[in-house]
Amino acid sequence: MSELKGLILAGGEGTRLRPITHTSAKQLVPVANKPVLFYGIEALVAAGITQIGVIVAPQTAAEIEAAAGSGERFGAQITYIPQQAPLGLAHAVLTAEPFLGESSFVMYLGDNLLQGGIQDLVAAFRASAPDALILLTPVDDPESYGVAELASAPGGAMRVVRLIEKPKQPPSDLALVGVYMFTARIHAAARSISPSARGELEITDAIQSIIDGGGRVEPHIVEGWWKDTGRLEDMLEANRLILDAIGASLEGELVETTVEGRVQVAAGARLLRTRVRGPAIIGAGAQISDCYIGPYTAIGDGCTLERAEVEHSILLAGCSISDIDGRIESSLLGRNVRIGRDRGAPRAYRFMVGDNSEVAIP
Ligand code: G1P
Repeated sequence: MSELKGLILAGGEGTRLRPITHTSAKQLVPVANKPVLFYGIEALVAAGITQIGVIVAPQTAAEIEAAAGSGERFGAQITYIPQQAPLGLAHAVLTAEPFLGESSFVMYLGDNLLQGGIQDLVAAFRASAPDALILLTPVDDPESYGVAELASAPGGAMRVVRLIEKPKQPPSDLALVGVYMFTARIHAAARSISPSARGELEITDAIQSIIDGGGRVEPHIVEGWWKDTGRLEDMLEANRLILDAIGASLEGELVETTVEGRVQVAAGARLLRTRVRGPAIIGAGAQISDCYIGPYTAIGDGCTLERAEVEHSILLAGCSISDIDGRIESSLLGRNVRIGRDRGAPRAYRFMVGDNSEVAIP
């Protein structure tokens, strides 16, 4: 088989993570202090795929290119492919056709996280050479996803016989995970379909067209967890799952500070009279004094925290928090957010928050 390529879709708008995504691409929101997109790039490289196309939207192209660069630091070569409008996953494939050519490829949705990586999947694809291979996982709410119906083929192997996007009456609980493997046959299939009710060229319809044309589409059930990080709760859960697996490393300066469990403190960070209970990660240059940092917290580079308690939260770079009564928890703070006490007006709250922000006060 010729060399496999990778195609990462990072053109989505991230409406469910507003207001963070008003100013930043959702694929760059960090999980355990690393942009979600980088996990996908690393998963491809770990499976031996180094020719990677990244689909980007005009609004976020520059930011994504600046973050991921040429791909060299991942051991990959990245080609950025602009998609003028978010017209669907199959439209993204057609947009990438000049890059993909006749190669088979892995398509990876840039806001997805897959615990087990994709090595198994690539091995299965190489071993049985189907026309397409899709990743599936049982979910509680199949109506929110593309759903597969399977049947056993002669010989007993399972085949995908039907795929439906966001079905009202799901034929199974097997949702399509945002990772797919295709041969070049997908291009003709994507050209043969029409936009769905939501106005998109759906990849599920393109795969269905391969099945209808007599092609062989194999299912692969995911072992380990999978997260689509589109919503706040998913983002926090992904952060929790990744932090659950980190090791300890204390490179920053710790003064009169207690650290329990697995905690990473990056170089240049300084913690003073603080208690950190892991798993937690603290980014480069963070300055933290008289604080409690609880489990499942990721504090970005250059954050400043004084007399505050934070737990089960993600703070992007440059946040500053001071003198908070009570604990900040299950929160996602964008870059350079400032939260503090207004000493001059003790009974008043003072906010400047973006559209679609959420502030919960007990
Ligand atoms: C897309 C696909 C869907 C798949 C899901 C996985 O949905 O269309 O088939 O199950 O990704 O995250 P969307 O995120 O566009 O609603």
